Amino acid sequence: NVFRMNIAIDGPAGAGKSTVARKVAGQLGYIYIDTGAMYRAVTLSALRNRVEPENSAALSEHAKTLNIVLRPGEHGQLVYLNGEDVTDLIRSREVTLSVSQVAANETVRSVLTDMQRKLAQDKGVVMDGRDIGTSVLPNAELKVFLTASVQERALRRYREIGLSQGITLEQLEKEIASRDKLDAERDISPLVCADDAIVLDSTSMSIDEVAAAIVNLSRTKLAEAK
Ligand code: CDP
Ligand code: CDP
Repeated sequence: NVFRMNIAIDGPAGAGKSTVARKVAGQLGYIYIDTGAMYRAVTLSALRNRVEPENSAALSEHAKTLNIVLRPGEHGQLVYLNGEDVTDLIRSREVTLSVSQVAANETVRSVLTDMQRKLAQDKGVVMDGRDIGTSVLPNAELKVFLTASVQERALRRYREIGLSQGITLEQLEKEIASRDKLDAERDISPLVCADDAIVLDSTSMSIDEVAAAIVNLSRTKLAEAK
């Protein structure tokens, strides 16, 4: 029986979590789960149905009615909202600007956290988010807190979407800093480094270097477990 573990990767926006987590999962033959995509899907649905993120009671009720499914696709994880493929729609600027407010809602968090725990119950999962090591999977065998300077994170996002979405680097830096602040200061499961997480600063590391570092950490854990 092969020993499989769960790997939690947390950190602020643009630290490289999704890119690196997908790679690590590929190298280990694990399943990659992007929990941010689930918060984005709830946000898309709330915006479409004119449920105000500030109206916490309405948002709670709305969240309970949603069917969110993650499925592996050829180019990464696909996200379905009530049967509709919303993989690309959840990356819109409107969703990005509202998601942290939606993610501060207690019911939204408990609905999604339950789903995330179920997805990880058989182990062999690399899950990225903000509260995976602290709240969703506190017993994950390996926890990584991935970070980078806010300037570097804004620059990465700028290269990704700046030109196509017509946003300046300065604007992106402001938006990322404001989302970090909301995520770190909320009452429920804020963005914080778990006591037993290994901190990786990726400011001057390539994607491959970060992925290799995490795969090596997982090998060390596997050897320890034998
Ligand atoms: O990819 P990006 O860094 O822009 O963000 P994301 O991982 O897609 O997450 C979007 C937002 O969802 C975050 O800014 C958080 O507000 C929220 N989130 C959360 O609260 N808890 C998680 N486990 C994952 C995301
Ligand atoms: O998931 P998170 O918001 O933490 O970050 P991401 O979406 O994985 O990465 C943001 C951007 O930074 C992507 O375009 C990555 O290709 C890039 N990146 C990088 O340039 N160097 C790294 N070490 C990690 C990511």
